[in-house]
Amino acid sequence: MRFWTSPEFDDHEQVCLFSDPQTGLRAMVAIHSTALGSAVGGTRFQPYGDDGLALDDALRLSRAMSYKSALAGLPCGGGKSVIIGDPGRLKSERLLHAYGRFINRIGSTFATGEDVGMSVADIETVREVSPFIGGTSTSGAGDPSVHTAVGVLHGLRAVIEYRFQRNDFNNLSVAIQGLGAVGWGVAERLHAEGARLTVADVRRENIDRAVAQFGASVASPQTIHAAEVDIYSPCALGGVITEHTAQAIRARAVAGAANNQLASRQAGEALAARGILFAPDYVINAGGIISGLEEYFKMPGRSGTEATPLVKRLARIHDRLTEIFERAASERRPPEATAEQMARELIGRSPAL
Ligand code: NAI
Repeated sequence: MRFWTSPEFDDHEQVCLFSDPQTGLRAMVAIHSTALGSAVGGTRFQPYGDDGLALDDALRLSRAMSYKSALAGLPCGGGKSVIIGDPGRLKSERLLHAYGRFINRIGSTFATGEDVGMSVADIETVREVSPFIGGTSTSGAGDPSVHTAVGVLHGLRAVIEYRFQRNDFNNLSVAIQGLGAVGWGVAERLHAEGARLTVADVRRENIDRAVAQFGASVASPQTIHAAEVDIYSPCALGGVITEHTAQAIRARAVAGAANNQLASRQAGEALAARGILFAPDYVINAGGIISGLEEYFKMPGRSGTEATPLVKRLARIHDRLTEIFERAASERRPPEATAEQMARELIGRSPAL
């Protein structure tokens, strides 16, 4: 396993490895930057082919968290934790408690919450032994996906103003891929504002519900990216925009909640070359982390208060995206390249990798 020579290493400040043979726990915490405040980032619990892949994931995801916090205007840095193994087989109360005790050793430099393989209930179990845990059902601003959906709507508003010179969704067509916690919230709000929806999901019941409630058209999960619509909104999986799918997109903008929508830098460049506006995912989907700020301030070793109400903080996603679109146009580069550059400036790092 390599660390300093990993392709994902970006002058990360700290990486901690933990193991507890009693429970089978093996975990890594990567802290990318604390330039703006102590690091935040979820805990991902999944199997990895080898330890190097787990480390690369922690390094890559923690850097993305630095960018997300910085562009959301939060006084936080970026970190990420991975627990290695099959959560279905390995997860136990004892393991989650051992994990919480390890998180305590890092102290106030890092706080974590749910991510792939970790439920709110799991996070609440870790919280029994560690105060550095956010996103529980009782201590925070409630379900983060609600706030993420609200944030995506603010982002979509920036998109329609910039790309369509409009400030309403009436009769605009939007293809939503994934009607889960966030995608459903986005669909509901867009429908209420008069948008025409095309939807895809691998779960039939979600599709049936969208047809009944929104009069949505249905597309297959494999081809929804090519739907004849104004905006394509990926709200399920990452990696949906490849150099190949970018050629098939007929929408004039791509803006949705899913993390890591671009499979590669070239995929983003392919969108830009075709004149398709891309809303960088870690900017438009920051509503959940923005909603966790009060909880963050209450953790030990932190100080600070936030006077601006959550509704106004979420609305800043609109302004940040508009700033990114305008600067990207003046710099003649894709919005995701400009977003990365802006984030690196905010955390005092050298220009984009
Ligand atoms: P979720 O698990 O509640 O919903 C995902 C939905 O996508 C499910 O309905 C699932 O059936 C569907 N789906 C799965 N594969 C699909 C495919 N191939 N085509 C179409 N639909 C498919 O997840 P959630 O919380 O709504 O998150 C959605 C995305 O947004 C994820 O990428 C997540 O990482 C990202 N995100 C979520 C945040 C949150 O607050 N929940 C915050 C930031 C990002």
